[in-house]
Amino acid sequence: MSNLLASKVAIVTGAAGGLGKAITKALLNAGAAVLIIDINATMLKEAKAELSTLGEVHDICADLTQAAATQDTVKAAVDKYGKLDILINNAGVMDTFTPIGDVELDYWDRIISIDLTIAARMSKFAVQEFLRPGRPGPQGGVILNVGSINGLRGGLAGAAYTTAKHALVGLTRSTAAHYATKGIRANIIMPGLMETNIRTAYVNGVHEEGKTLAFSLLGQNPATVNIEKLGKLVAFTCSDDADYLNGAIISTDCGWQAI
Ligand SMILES: NC(=O)c1ccc[n+]([C@@H]2O[C@H](COP(=O)([O-])OP(=O)(O)OC[C@H]3O[C@@H](n4cnc5c(N)ncnc54)[C@H](O)[C@@H]3O)[C@@H](O)[C@H]2O)c1
Repeated sequence: MSNLLASKVAIVTGAAGGLGKAITKALLNAGAAVLIIDINATMLKEAKAELSTLGEVHDICADLTQAAATQDTVKAAVDKYGKLDILINNAGVMDTFTPIGDVELDYWDRIISIDLTIAARMSKFAVQEFLRPGRPGPQGGVILNVGSINGLRGGLAGAAYTTAKHALVGLTRSTAAHYATKGIRANIIMPGLMETNIRTAYVNGVHEEGKTLAFSLLGQNPATVNIEKLGKLVAFTCSDDADYLNGAIISTDCGWQAI
């Protein structure tokens, strides 16, 4: 327990399990109040019960691809806690390793919507709140995007997921560049393999050739990233002790990208 994020208010998307829950734990342990949001009602309920033992948590069950859901989520944080200081764009789904020539266009739209557009919409409304005249405390805030090694390499997933994660780097840099003088920071972590529920995508309906390529590259670095440790890095990155970090693309992959 620290007071690194005391009096800060955070939103974590996709927080019912996996990395999102681990990040929420670290934010709570650092003293933040956290609004968690996820599409999975059962897991969200379980996560809320577990996380509430650590600090102040509010939960919302919603599909963030729905038109009003992102704006409503930011509004809910402000209604509940009076402000928003930190946005963690974590919600995501893996794709089926399908290369561009074989991808169904509806499927492309769905993956881009979840893995990129949710983060863009959440960022838009968070930035508006960070800059709201009269908000409690100074204007500004922090956005932390959850990218992937797939935002740096091309053969480890299908075209849609790889494209979305590369685009998140652009969203991060654009946000950092445009708002650096306005007290807003945006950074992105690029995790390697993590033991989470996202791996269920590896099982059903995969593109066999794409999966074979990914798994051959996967053999280069079988190390997995510990989500509890990564959560702590995220909490630090969002704290004022890391106020020099802006527009950073942070490799968190046990050295995989370096190979
Ligand atoms: N697990 C890995 O190996 C790995 C590697 C690199 C990056 N990532 C990234 O980490 C992030 C977290 O994923 P994870 O590995 O913890 O997987 P996870 O499946 O455990 O968590 C993702 C969460 O996002 C939620 N979600 C999905 N669609 C949503 C929607 N439309 N609205 C609201 N919530 C939604 C899911 O219900 C789930 O709880 C993702 O952005 C993922 O791309 C994962």
